[in-house]
Amino acid sequence: KEVRVFAPATVANVACGYDVLGFAINEPGDEVVVRHSDKPGLRITKITGDDGKLPKTVEGNTAGVAALDLLRHLGMTDRGIEMEIHKKMPFGSGLGSSAASAVAGVYAVNKLIGEPLSKLQLLPFAMTGEASADGAYHADNVGPSLLGGIVFIRSNQELDIAQLPVPKNLYAAVVHPDIEILTKVAREILPKEIPLENATQQIGNLGGLICGLIQEDYGMISRSIHDVIAEPRRQKLIPEFYKAKRSALANGALGFSISGAGPSVFALCEGKDTAKKVAAAVSKVFTDAGLGNQQHVSPI
Ligand code: HSE
Repeated sequence: KEVRVFAPATVANVACGYDVLGFAINEPGDEVVVRHSDKPGLRITKITGDDGKLPKTVEGNTAGVAALDLLRHLGMTDRGIEMEIHKKMPFGSGLGSSAASAVAGVYAVNKLIGEPLSKLQLLPFAMTGEASADGAYHADNVGPSLLGGIVFIRSNQELDIAQLPVPKNLYAAVVHPDIEILTKVAREILPKEIPLENATQQIGNLGGLICGLIQEDYGMISRSIHDVIAEPRRQKLIPEFYKAKRSALANGALGFSISGAGPSVFALCEGKDTAKKVAAAVSKVFTDAGLGNQQHVSPI
């Protein structure tokens, strides 16, 4: 028996929801293949698409760590399982690459051994997998990669989460400029303390965004996509960020910000045509600056 699983990329934070909000996009994503083996224990037999960066040890990548954490929990570390990891998106892209691998790894192994746990129950193991790469425990990438749609996390510690409804015509335009930003570094440049005024603005926007999604109020969604905490600091790591933002808004985006820790950027748009136009306009800004990039347009 062989199980092949695809886990999608994700846009975390969604501007105002640092570490507590994220959504899945259709592509790119990572793939994991698992099969039974006579040799006891979990082994990584093949990794592709990583430019040789990942060691072939179970502990050396998020898919292996997440799957092993699940097997430990179930007391099944003796099970013979072979795992292949096919990376289909770059590291440090801001698209939840390590999260997608962790989700695909733990989901595939759970399926191979007869699905003892539900999707939701797999979340903590996927989080442990991702934390092995970026040192932080947050579900805003693994949550939506595992469950789909937009996921709100009231508490990462208690894992209190909710899937939010999404207006039918809401699309994401995502552009990934070809530079690498390590999540660890992008987290270190954030302030430990923020002014009360910024906290109030951010809470208002997060509440507004959630209300807008529930009430299908594109105006409210648009007025709420602002990040006054991470974006002002992190934009320095992304060439032409404000030019790209101006271009997205001029082409009809509801809002624009950094995807996760960057360098990818995203816009929310009403309608697929607008999202395509916005993705092309943002892509052009990076291309004109001599930066290669990839665009993705996806319903949410
Ligand atoms: N919420 C995380 C951050 C996502 O912004 O650092 C990146 O993995």
